[in-house]
Amino acid sequence: MAELKLKGVTKKFDNVTALKNIDLDIKDGEFFVLLGPTGAGKTTTLRCIAGLDYPEEGEIVLGGDTVNSVIPAERDVAMVFQYYTLYPHLNVRENLEFPLRSKKRNLSEDEIDKRVLEAARILHIEDKLHHNVTELSGGEMQRVGIGRAIVRQPRLFLMDEPLSNLDAKLREGMRAELARLHIDMGETFLYVTHDHVEAMTMADRVGILNEGEILQVGTPDEIYNTPATTFVATFVGSPQINVILAEVKGDFLNLPSLGINVDLTSKQKAALDGRQEILYGVRPEDVEVIKGNDKDHSSQVYFKQSMGAEDIVNLKCGEGTLRALVEPHLKLKEGDDVSFSLDIERVHIFDLESGLALR
Ligand SMILES: Nc1ncnc2c1ncn2[C@@H]1O[C@H](COP(=O)(O)OP(=O)(O)OP(=O)(O)O)[C@@H](O)[C@H]1O
Ligand SMILES: [Mg+2]
Repeated sequence: MAELKLKGVTKKFDNVTALKNIDLDIKDGEFFVLLGPTGAGKTTTLRCIAGLDYPEEGEIVLGGDTVNSVIPAERDVAMVFQYYTLYPHLNVRENLEFPLRSKKRNLSEDEIDKRVLEAARILHIEDKLHHNVTELSGGEMQRVGIGRAIVRQPRLFLMDEPLSNLDAKLREGMRAELARLHIDMGETFLYVTHDHVEAMTMADRVGILNEGEILQVGTPDEIYNTPATTFVATFVGSPQINVILAEVKGDFLNLPSLGINVDLTSKQKAALDGRQEILYGVRPEDVEVIKGNDKDHSSQVYFKQSMGAEDIVNLKCGEGTLRALVEPHLKLKEGDDVSFSLDIERVHIFDLESGLALR
């Protein structure tokens, strides 16, 4: 087991700065998810930790040791990749044994056997050990890939979008299995993904990475409910948060695109700090919609998407639209006259220029 610290890590490729002064503090036994869009620097972060890339600046500290100049094989970390990196000419058992057969490890046959069977048991692939890997489904192949990391008994697991090639249903099942695996093993996991649902459902804590910079680190709850920037607010959560330009008018705000006024709470008013224009962020579940006109603002259903347990409706209001999440029993349909109120205690306000949350 090991804690991992990144201190001021910067990595450049020619004219691209892939990582800009990254600080991370990952606790022993934690399931930490690094979440960010394509090109954010997720894989580069993992490669620097594994020793496959070397940062120009900063320190990587694993279990108290600075490992910057330690070769990959001696860092004692295992990486699981997005694409299955199995040997097609070997069967499942041989693929699992492979990392253990290096001369350096010098493990007994009994020990190899024990570790392989244990990994197979954990991953529910005991009955596949004699199968050729080319006969496996995508999900089974990725289990073998994870198994190859487990048998090494590393002090840190690095996982680079290991589920992104699986179909949606399998991915959901594997998420739960991986989270369970982490609980059973109690090891430190650093998992990267561009999928916010994956991050929110599996992580103890999430770090949001964009353009080589860490924007926020927090529990899934903190990330969702107190996003540090508009980027974080829009990247996490589906359907997406509404971000609307707002003009400050004393005790209330005017939202010109929707043609409505909304009250400011005293806390929000204090956070404005003299600003005249801000960005107003409203999560779709914080828009309360009813048929008829008993709520604060009247509007019309412009577009509806059913998701089974919930419906997403786009409300036409003024010149703009507003996304809201509603109960299907309302049976709203396009053109219905409705009214809505915003839960002003739950909305987020951001600086117009920087996108930073105002608190
Ligand atoms: N070997 C390399 N040579 C040059 N540029 C690179 C190299 N590896 C990564 N980059 C650049 O560094 C940045 C970060 O890339 P990285 O692969 O870490 O992103 P990522 O977050 O893993 O993205 P994805 O979600 O697409 O896998 C990108 O701009 C990428 O083009
Ligand atoms: Mg990547």
